[in-house]
Formats: sequence, structure tokens, C-alpha cells
Amino acid sequence: MKFNKKELTQDTYYVGVNDRTKARFEDIIPLTYGVAYNSYLIMDEKTALMDSVDVCMGDLFIDKLLSTLDGRTLDYLIINHIEPDHSGAIRTLRQHYPNVQIIGNKKTLSMLDGFYGMTDNILEIKDGETISLGKHELTFILTPMVHWPETMMTYDSLTQTIFTGDAFGAFGALDGGVLDTELDLDRVWDEMYRYYANIVGKYGVQVQKAFGKLSKYDIKMICSTHGPVWTAHKDKAMEIYNQLSKGEAAKGVVIVYGSMYGNTEIMAEAVAQGLREEGIRNVIIHNASKSDDSFILRDIFKYKGLVIGSTTYNGDLHPCIKNIVAKIENRGIKNKEFAYFSSFSWGNVADKMLKEFAEKTKWNTVEFTVSEKMGVKKEGYQSAIQLGKELAKQLQD
Ligand code: FEO
Repeated sequence: MKFNKKELTQDTYYVGVNDRTKARFEDIIPLTYGVAYNSYLIMDEKTALMDSVDVCMGDLFIDKLLSTLDGRTLDYLIINHIEPDHSGAIRTLRQHYPNVQIIGNKKTLSMLDGFYGMTDNILEIKDGETISLGKHELTFILTPMVHWPETMMTYDSLTQTIFTGDAFGAFGALDGGVLDTELDLDRVWDEMYRYYANIVGKYGVQVQKAFGKLSKYDIKMICSTHGPVWTAHKDKAMEIYNQLSKGEAAKGVVIVYGSMYGNTEIMAEAVAQGLREEGIRNVIIHNASKSDDSFILRDIFKYKGLVIGSTTYNGDLHPCIKNIVAKIENRGIKNKEFAYFSSFSWGNVADKMLKEFAEKTKWNTVEFTVSEKMGVKKEGYQSAIQLGKELAKQLQD
């Protein structure tokens, strides 16, 4: 199959692919709208490819690359990020271009050996080093732990384009366009939040360090390995990553509850009512048994307020709440305005565990809580409304 070339900027082409087949990213996170594995080709006196794609899309990727190279050879493969969704096709690539030189930092090349047993025809680069393709001079910027140890970025000074690996990425296939100006971005922003929360969210400190390094570069175009190529909307994309990595969030509240027979759910609704009555407009309720964790985490990162409600189950938290609490702790999420409530039938364990969780997080927690035994009674219902109101006041301060 011969594809048309897709030029993004001078000598720089898109050769990525869309995956609408895979159910879950990393076999964990639902791909509601698919995902793009982006790869870019610069064709100067030398040709250089930025990252490759998942092995499942290898043949299609090679067809796109062959079409764009149009008879020219491939001189370099630059690996900004070696996670297999961007490196799985390297073996296939080398079958087509056996002389391609693979460029990466020390950690990348160690992983290249570890994952694929490749040690020949490689070039190790260090932070700040450059190579010239002719007119295009590429600078390598090491940005470790955004979100793997080897992650780095590559800056092309001629076109002021930065190839960022996963940074500034989003879930979602690219439907018809590649540039942000070619796409309807409404869905993309949500998928960017979900991507950040689930993939990069644990590494806010390292993202901030990367921002520090990027500050000396003039950037016109951002080429991530997932999601749109950012041009007109690059500032917004960067600002979302900047705010999320600093733990800044929008005014609003996420209520996550785990209920068995609906009593904890009634309390969740009552808390939401209290929030609304005090003027909080953005209130999102997630039933932890139904909403996928990736969407719950997205909203927790996005909004300043969080309420968790759990029934006691087998002397523990509701299993779905236990799971989401563990994911919050794993990511070390900061700066929340927090409230919690619980229910039980005989032993009130959920209240104790949520209290311990609140203390561990060091979040700003509403001082009172509600815990109902068996069915929700009038007083407990009113207290849940009051809990929402107290949290709303905390958010207004
Ligand atoms: Fe898209 Fe971290 O791989």
C-alpha cells in the first residue's frame, strides 16, 4: 500500500498509526476512543525517525514509512521513549533498514538490549548533545521519569519542533487529521487529562523538572507519541501538564462511593446536594463499582475537591474503594480538599480506614464525618448534606 505523505513542517512528516483494536492500554486502561502511536520522520541530507510504534501495527507503520521515504534509506532511529508501544516495531524496522543507526541515552540503550537483545549499530548520546542531519540540528534533552527512567526529548532548532515522547500526549485515535488545528479537540482535552492522570500522574516532580529544561527553547510545534501534534493549542496543552504536575486543579468536586444496597449511594447524592446548594457547579459522582478507575483518577486530578464514601465490607473498605484509595496513594496525589463518609451494618471499619487514609494524605479534610448504621435515617441524611456544604465552604476559602 502506498500512502500519501503527511508533512507537518519543513522536511518533517507524520508516519504514525491509529490503533482502534486494542481494548486496554498496557492491558489496564480502557481505550474508549482508541489510541495513536505517533512516529515522525525528518528527511534532510540524512533521514531520522523519531520513535516507532506498537508491534501490532508494525506492518502498517512500515508501509507508511516506505511511502514517505519513497526510495530513500533510513539513517537514524532516535528513541525518545522505549516503552514497547513505541519500540515494538523496531525489529521489523531493522529488517527493512538493516543499517539504521539507533540513537538513545545510556538507559535507553540498556533497555534496547534488555527488551530486544539489540547492541549493534547504536549511538549513545548525553544530555544536551546535538547531531546534524544537514539543515536540521537536533538537541537531546534528557527528562528522566517522565514517565520511565530513559525518557528524553529531541529538539529541532530549524523548525522549533520538539519531539516529547509521551509528554503532552492524550488517549484517542486521530480521526482524519494529525495537527490540533485539524481536529475537534473537545474529546481530546478529556483524554489528555485521563492520559496524564493514569500514565504520567505519579511523576509530577519530574514533569516540573522537564519544564525547567524546556524553558530555554522556543517551541512552535510539539510532537508527542500520542494524541494530536500541538501547534495553535500548544500553550493550552503545556498549561494542562504544568498545572496537573504542580497539583493544581479546577474548582469542583468528585464524589466516589462504594455501595452495596444503595444506602451509601443515597449519602453520596446528599453530599452532592449540599455542594450544589453552596454554589459548587462542577460535581461529578462516580460509582466505584461501575466507573473505570482511569476515569475516576482523571476527575480526581482535574478537580480540587474529593469525597470518598464507603460501606464496610468483610471488615474492610468496599473492595472498589480500597482499590481507588490504593491508586491515589500510589500516585501521591497532593493538595485536595477532602471529606469522607461511610456506612456499616455491624462493625464500622470503613470510617476508621478512611480516617487513617485522610491523615496519611495530609489533605485539608472536613472536620466532621457521617457514618450510618444500616439504612440512612433522617439525621444522617441531613448530616451528609451538611458535609457537602462544609466542603463547599472549604473550597470557597
Ligand atoms: Fe506511550 Fe510510556 O508509552
